Amino acid sequence: MFRININLKVAIVLVINFLLCANIIAENNWNVPADKKARNSYIKFDAASAQTGEALYNKNCLSCHGNLGKGNSLKSLNPVPPDLSSAKTQELTDGELFYILTTGRMIMPSFKNVLSEDERWRVISFIRSSNKNYVQVLSKFDPNKSKLVKIDMKYDAKTNKIHVDVKANEKTGIVSIKDAEIVLFATRYFGRLQIDKTQRTSVDGVAEFAFPKDLPGDKQGNVELVVKVNDDNYGEIEYQKKFNIGVPTDKPGLTQKRAIWNVLVKAPVWIIVLYSSGILVFGLVLLYLLTNLRKLKKIGETKN
Ligand code: HEC
Repeated sequence: MFRININLKVAIVLVINFLLCANIIAENNWNVPADKKARNSYIKFDAASAQTGEALYNKNCLSCHGNLGKGNSLKSLNPVPPDLSSAKTQELTDGELFYILTTGRMIMPSFKNVLSEDERWRVISFIRSSNKNYVQVLSKFDPNKSKLVKIDMKYDAKTNKIHVDVKANEKTGIVSIKDAEIVLFATRYFGRLQIDKTQRTSVDGVAEFAFPKDLPGDKQGNVELVVKVNDDNYGEIEYQKKFNIGVPTDKPGLTQKRAIWNVLVKAPVWIIVLYSSGILVFGLVLLYLLTNLRKLKKIGETKN
């Protein structure tokens, strides 16, 4: 009975250990879908693309991943961001790197709306430049195909929806682009605000977005909408259009009023007064000290 008990305990511990290990293995694996894994870059990985990639890397990745091959990534993070020139990372396919950059995971941010597809490939070109054994397989994808795409955006006041229609002007005629990923944004003072969820186009190349009724626009209620289309065949395309569907908002600009961050002519009066009187008091004290010093000197001279 005693033995069975111990065996049972050992078995339980073993099972728990196994589960933990399996969990860690799953954590390490990015589980990139097969079609994404096989994806290749249409941008040639040469000195020029690596150079633009390096600038983008320094701006977006360096703070966490450190310099390639230097092992100076941000150790305080958990998991520690790997050195991207390491064998483990270099074993990933270009498609996997692209997927990781696009989707992110927990601390590793998604760069989907930060870097364009072109820019993401250029960053990967830079990451590959550290690997002497790497040989690129170029994609047959033609980035010029994106020029064939025609996007139309309409607002339906009845349903309060934005209709996006995506077509391609092929030689054979106009075709609807189906199952393309569509993201809608409204431009704001700082960056972009995503409207509704990311959608996929229907067989007719149409996607619909619910528009929030309370979105502030400019003085006249204009809102600038940007639609971003992402399709495996046609690439990434952006289209921008202004609509008069926002709530008219008249907010004085940050620099229009007297404020601490403004230029001198528009600095707050109390700051000007405080600052000037400060200087005045300081000058008077200095003058007082100097005249007293002169008096002392005179007294000394008469005593001699
Ligand atoms: C905020 C910190 C941070 C920034 C910024 C960041 N990363 Fe990461 N990255 C991480 C962390 C943490 C991991 C590990 C994530 C994990 O395993 O779950 C990671 C993982 C990765 C991986 C997977 C490596 C492997 O071997 O598994 C790649 C590739 C990657 N990052 C590329 C980049 C690139 C390229 C940039 C810049 C465009 C970037 N990262 C910006 C934190 C960051």
